[in-house]
Amino acid sequence: MTIQAVLIPGDGIGPEVSAAVCRILEAAKADIQWLRHDAGLAAVEGGSKTTLPESTLAAIREHHVALKGPCTTPVGTGFSSVNVALRKTLGLYGAVRPIRSLAGVPTRFENVDLVVVRENTEGLYAGIENEITPGVVTSLKVATELASRRIAEFAFKYANDRGRKKISVFHKANIMKMSDGLFIRCAKEVSQKWIGKIHYEELIIDAACMRLVQDPTRFDVILMENLYGDIVSDLAAGLIGGLGVAPGANFGDEYAVFEAVHGSAPDIAGKGIANPLSLLMSAVMMLNHLAVTRNMPQLKTIGVHIRTAYDRALQDDQKTGDIGGKLSTEQFADAVIQRL
Ligand code: NAI
Repeated sequence: MTIQAVLIPGDGIGPEVSAAVCRILEAAKADIQWLRHDAGLAAVEGGSKTTLPESTLAAIREHHVALKGPCTTPVGTGFSSVNVALRKTLGLYGAVRPIRSLAGVPTRFENVDLVVVRENTEGLYAGIENEITPGVVTSLKVATELASRRIAEFAFKYANDRGRKKISVFHKANIMKMSDGLFIRCAKEVSQKWIGKIHYEELIIDAACMRLVQDPTRFDVILMENLYGDIVSDLAAGLIGGLGVAPGANFGDEYAVFEAVHGSAPDIAGKGIANPLSLLMSAVMMLNHLAVTRNMPQLKTIGVHIRTAYDRALQDDQKTGDIGGKLSTEQFADAVIQRL
């Protein structure tokens, strides 16, 4: 049965890596019909008045899943983040970023295998900022019991479904006693239901980051509010080879958007050298999700084939420049396809 899924290629290196990923999925015989829709700069350049056209949202609402390339967000001024808008509008409250050591991508650590779970809808990312008086601005950090409990429930269920054994919450409740205090209170309450199955610990984020870079293998699932999750997930990606080799997914109760964790990389856009692995790994997460939600176990098998193929390619030293190789985006895609 053909599955229809939305594809948002994005801008910058987005279209290049999306094309490579679609080619690999097709070669792996993943029977997916991509419905292409724009967001971000690409939407505005295509004549849309907004960065998140209603037609793009309607397509995701209809088909429930999307694969998304990066979208540029100008710093300081200009339009607001399409990623934040997408997550808020579709209620994609749980961001998941698996971080796994890859054979063939040597880094300081081996056997890293952790998952960052990030609350996606509030915290400092609420984007509520005010100029009190010229030269004085405030940015409001929002924490609600509903969202804090919801992400904790999500993290424990996610961990349990995948046989993970420990959840570490990073926080700064010693300083932000009310907002981070609420976040960890909810996490702790939820953890009570999982006693004996999943170990729970709370770590103050500054010391936790030190521990993370000293020995990432001590971590299993890390749960955080929005901004901490944003920063720590890039830090964690750095432990295993960088943004080019880490996938991401955003889950809500009804929809899921799978996306590369890196940005639009304007410094290398159009050169054909971007690493498509992050988006490819995200696409494999999408196949796993569809396998469960559409009851199509064959998609999980295809995901395993793709994962084995890119693992082999990396072991054979077939890599793009960001992880020490020489291949172009398309050459790397060819190397994966040859190993399917
Ligand atoms: P970036 O992730 O685009 O680039 C950081 C560095 O990593 C650059 O040197 C880039 O060349 C390299 N890089 C990133 N992805 C790569 C890949 N697949 N292969 C090889 N090298 C890669 O981060 P930056 O420069 O901070 O952001 C650029 C734009 O992307 C900004 O407008 C930002 O807002 C946006 N962005 C969008 C995201 C999304 O759509 N999910 C996520 C992060 C940033």
